[in-house]
Amino acid sequence: MRLENFGFGGVLSWFYSVLAENNPVMVDFYENVANEVFLNLSSGNILDVGTGPGILAFKVADKNDKFRVFGVDISSSMVEIAKNKAKKKGLSDRVTFQFGDVLNLPFEDESFDLVLSTFSFHHWSSPSKGIKEIYRVLKSGSQAWIYDGKRGLPNKQTRKSIVEKYGMILGTLFMFVSSVHFFSLDEIKSILSLDEIRGIKCILEDDGIFIKIRIVK
Ligand SMILES: C[S@@+](CC[C@H](N)C(=O)[O-])C[C@H]1O[C@@H](n2cnc3c(N)ncnc32)[C@H](O)[C@@H]1O
Repeated sequence: MRLENFGFGGVLSWFYSVLAENNPVMVDFYENVANEVFLNLSSGNILDVGTGPGILAFKVADKNDKFRVFGVDISSSMVEIAKNKAKKKGLSDRVTFQFGDVLNLPFEDESFDLVLSTFSFHHWSSPSKGIKEIYRVLKSGSQAWIYDGKRGLPNKQTRKSIVEKYGMILGTLFMFVSSVHFFSLDEIKSILSLDEIRGIKCILEDDGIFIKIRIVK
């Protein structure tokens, strides 16, 4: 699903980029994912699917100069923003961005040591086809980590800790967006049980706020 299809052209891509880069909920989240990558991989090719402005891609690349990071996105305005950032940061040789759809990734089979995706899964017109395609480009013995929000309010304790950590305004805004925007946990479970991806090992993790689908090849 293209951002452009919703009228999300250049201006909205730019707006999203500023928001994501400065929102402490998201900044914290990307930092945690990048640390997890650093702890699990010492070198290799990493793909970020639905990379948007590339914030995670840059954070991951910063952790280890033996990582070669590729970002792919179906929005050409997002790809432009990410490419410009790579140029400004002097990282264009190690962090590259291109237009592409998760349903038809522009890469050979078994190209990547790790595939990541954050907050993009709920946009895919066929999430199961996306999973199948990600599995295709993963090297054998490698994993994909697909992160997203989940629809519905977190439990009382989690709500309290979100507000404590991020403040009333940002915390409440985040919970409001989550409560309407993403797939519910049941919807994700039913996607993962579709025949189309039977045989692909997908492990669903839920930390109360975010979900992670770990695809193991
Ligand atoms: C909410 S943004 C998340 C961007 C980035 N991953 C982040 O965490 O900031 C969702 C992104 O997924 C991209 N996207 C949506 N459908 C896609 C598809 N079928 N293939 C590739 N990218 C897609 C959108 O263009 C958008 O940039």
